[in-house]
Order: sequence, then C-alpha cells, then structure tokens
Amino acid sequence: MDRGGLVEHRQRLLAGLRGQVVEVGAGPGGTFPHYPATVAEVLAVEPEPRLREIARRAAAAAPARVEVVDGTAERLPLPDASTDAVVFCLVLCSVADPVAALTEARRVLRPGGELRVLEHVRADGHPRLVRVQRWMDATVWPRIAGGCHVGRDTTAVVRRAGFTLDRVERFRFPDAATPFSSHVLAVAVPATEPG
Ligand SMILES: C[S@@+](CC[C@H](N)C(=O)[O-])C[C@H]1O[C@@H](n2cnc3c(N)ncnc32)[C@H](O)[C@@H]1O
Repeated sequence: MDRGGLVEHRQRLLAGLRGQVVEVGAGPGGTFPHYPATVAEVLAVEPEPRLREIARRAAAAAPARVEVVDGTAERLPLPDASTDAVVFCLVLCSVADPVAALTEARRVLRPGGELRVLEHVRADGHPRLVRVQRWMDATVWPRIAGGCHVGRDTTAVVRRAGFTLDRVERFRFPDAATPFSSHVLAVAVPATEPG
C-alpha cells in the first residue's frame, strides 16, 4: 500500500504536527519516516510483540525521535493531558470499541491538542458497497482479518467520543470502487461539550 501511494496520505496525516505525539497501533512503523521535524518525540504504542520488534528497528532508522512501547488504544501508558497529538493510522477499523479508544485518546491530550485519523471507512454514497461492507463485517471478515471492519463510520465515532471535527477529507485509495477503498483523513479537537 505504501508503494501504491499510501505514503502521500501518511505525509498529509502528519503534516504540521509539533511537540509530543502518541501514535496508537503503530504496527511495523510505516509512519515513522514521515513525521515532520517540528515533532519533538513520538511515543508509538503497539500491542503486538512481533510488530513492536519491527517497529523498534524502524524507529532506529527514523529521522524523528521515536520510542516504541507496549500498550493498547483502550489503555494508553500515559498520564492525563500529557501529549500534543494522538495519531491513528489504519487502526480504528480493528479496535473492539472505537469510542472507548478515542475517549482514551481525549484523556491524554493536552488542552489545545489534536487528534489525527487516517482510516478506511464506510462507503457513503455507494449503497451497494455499503451493503457488501455490512455483510462482510457481520460474517467472516473480522475473524480472518485481525478484527478489521471494513464499514465503520469513523467520523461519527470521533464525534461520539467527544471531539469536534476540524477537517475531514474523503478519498478513494486505491482509486477503485471496492469495500476497502473509501478512506477518511480527519483532524479533530476535544469538544468543549462532549457529545
Ligand atoms: C493495519 S495495522 C496498521 C499499522 C500502522 N498504524 C500503519 O499505518 O501501518 C493495524 C494495527 O493496529 C494494531 N491494533 C489492533 N488493535 C489494537 C488496539 N486495541 N490497541 C492498539 N493497537 C491495536 C495492530 O496490532 C496493528 O499494528
């Protein structure tokens, strides 16, 4: 996916970030080379030990300072109000309870902090594809794909977790009508009134 153009979307996801950043579900560290120089430090949280090992090697080669740690989206190893940004890249499709994960992200954000999300999502505007996504999510797909759901309405989930959306870009990647190709890149801030 990176060779197919995902890199460009990763770069847009991270552009303009600064200070302390938490990346949740960092996997093998595909975003690490793309953090801008304005980021002082990335805490990369990854629950899967094998992926954590690969991520540690990627961290050593990354231009940014990246520390890879064990943890989950539902329980981040950080105090309240301790980070400037939380990043999710292709993770919220797989967590069991995305509202709980984003509520936890809100807990660790400092006042003025922001949430960045890049996810594949429900194919809004394409009813036939939405039907296929519903069928996949209700049957075999999450079981064979590590808990992944293809049809989540992730921007609605972000709002439900108490964020206000500042920017939402919807795009197809790859540029084809498949259950996996509808994506969203969203920037959000904690709402003054959650809900
Ligand atoms: C499709 S991979 C994406 C990896 C990476 N973010 C990227 O952009 O290449 C999904 C990642 O989410 C992680 N993940 C799944 N459930 C999680 C959870 N509850 N908390 C944190 N990470 C989780 C997986 O271990 C995996 O690394």
